[in-house]
Amino acid sequence: MKKENYVSLEFPSRSANESFARAAAACFAAQLDPTLEEVNDVKTAVSEAVTNAIVHAYPDRIGKIVMRVALLEGHALEIVVKDWGVGIEDVEKAREPLFTTGNQERAGMGFTIMESFMDTLKVRSVPGKGTTVTMRRKIARRAGR
Ligand SMILES: Nc1ncnc2c1ncn2[C@@H]1O[C@H](COP(=O)(O)OP(=O)(O)OP(=O)(O)O)[C@@H](O)[C@H]1O
Ligand SMILES: [Mg+2]
Repeated sequence: MKKENYVSLEFPSRSANESFARAAAACFAAQLDPTLEEVNDVKTAVSEAVTNAIVHAYPDRIGKIVMRVALLEGHALEIVVKDWGVGIEDVEKAREPLFTTGNQERAGMGFTIMESFMDTLKVRSVPGKGTTVTMRRKIARRAGR
């Protein structure tokens, strides 16, 4: 699908960068004039994807994360969060609600949340090579614009 605009952000897997990535995605989304609910949905999904890259992809080192936010034709947002970390053995299983390899702090709900707040979620992962999460969400055109 044609990209009409995009930004790309590279940052190390430090937890401080999660809130920055979330806010940056929201700022980029502003050009679509989203409702508060729409922008909050996108922020929640970005937060889950970036947190996963920070927490799971690089369990014992700081690694590279790239987030790309694009405006697609048809008034839709596409968000790609990519890491070069440990990868996921079984993506289908990882996407199941409550599945986690994390500690007690983890609910295993990240992918389920991304799926429910966005229109589509694609997860590509190669063990030992990394993970790419691609999410899309249409933003309604508001009357009078
Ligand atoms: N970027 C990633 N790199 C490696 N493994 C990942 C990545 N993202 C997710 N996973 C794996 O998929 C599992 C499920 O992810 P999900 O976000 O649904 O739950 P969680 O992160 O374990 O818990 P929660 O998001 O509720 O805190 C993780 O426990 C982890 O094993
Ligand atoms: Mg998670």
